[in-house]
Amino acid sequence: MKKSIYFVANWKMNGGLNSLKDLVKINKFLSKPNSFKIIVCPPILFTKFFATNLKKLKFSFGSQDVSVIDKDFGAYTGEVSSKMLIENRIQYVLVGHSERRTLGDTNQIIKHKLISALRNKVKVIFCFGENLNDKKNNLSLKVIKKQILSSVDKKLVSKNIIFAYEPIWSIGTGIVPEKEYLNYIFSNIKKILKEYLKLKNPEILYGGSVSSETINDLKKVNHLSGFLVGGASLKSSSFINLLKSYKYN
Ligand code: 13P
Repeated sequence: MKKSIYFVANWKMNGGLNSLKDLVKINKFLSKPNSFKIIVCPPILFTKFFATNLKKLKFSFGSQDVSVIDKDFGAYTGEVSSKMLIENRIQYVLVGHSERRTLGDTNQIIKHKLISALRNKVKVIFCFGENLNDKKNNLSLKVIKKQILSSVDKKLVSKNIIFAYEPIWSIGTGIVPEKEYLNYIFSNIKKILKEYLKLKNPEILYGGSVSSETINDLKKVNHLSGFLVGGASLKSSSFINLLKSYKYN
């Protein structure tokens, strides 16, 4: 059987109740036979509305964040626990995204978010990646290795972690790394995950300016299990175009 390919839609701070119409179209597109595994991460307060208004859901929902507090309930203003996510059928969570790192999530905070998510069996999409300066100074692998190993403990490793490489310089810029660079980075991520975390077949996604224009080159990269998509996931037309381009090109 052909392995499914992930497309994770990260809406960031976008979308609204009227985005339901986009999800209806995406759901319809997915009702035809396909090998996609789609996870949509809208701002979480919309998820329940979407889930109850969509018939025969053909994709999963994810959250863009989870509480760092490893508790189900408590006096923690503004926090949402992994128990609350799973109770609302949100099965995935993005952790370690560079935009959250910029807002203050350290490797240590990210580690605790991972612990809190995994305890309630919310699957983690663990994001990491270098900035342009790191790349220019040949530090990409060093940075990536540190980000992974400071947050993902050997004890934490399970099938419930999906890794997502997102070079910061590619996010929202329209610039995607060369295939050779990605092959080099991905084979080294695999090596790190095997050597230090004993993971033989990790799932690794790529994120950063994924669109129907860039997918053709990106899909040729080795060791890739799918994609994390920002801008091109916001409208059903661009997202479906992206899926079609992946399928037919
Ligand atoms: P863009 O696809 O808009 O570059 O965003 C990527 C991203 O940050 C997904 O998490």
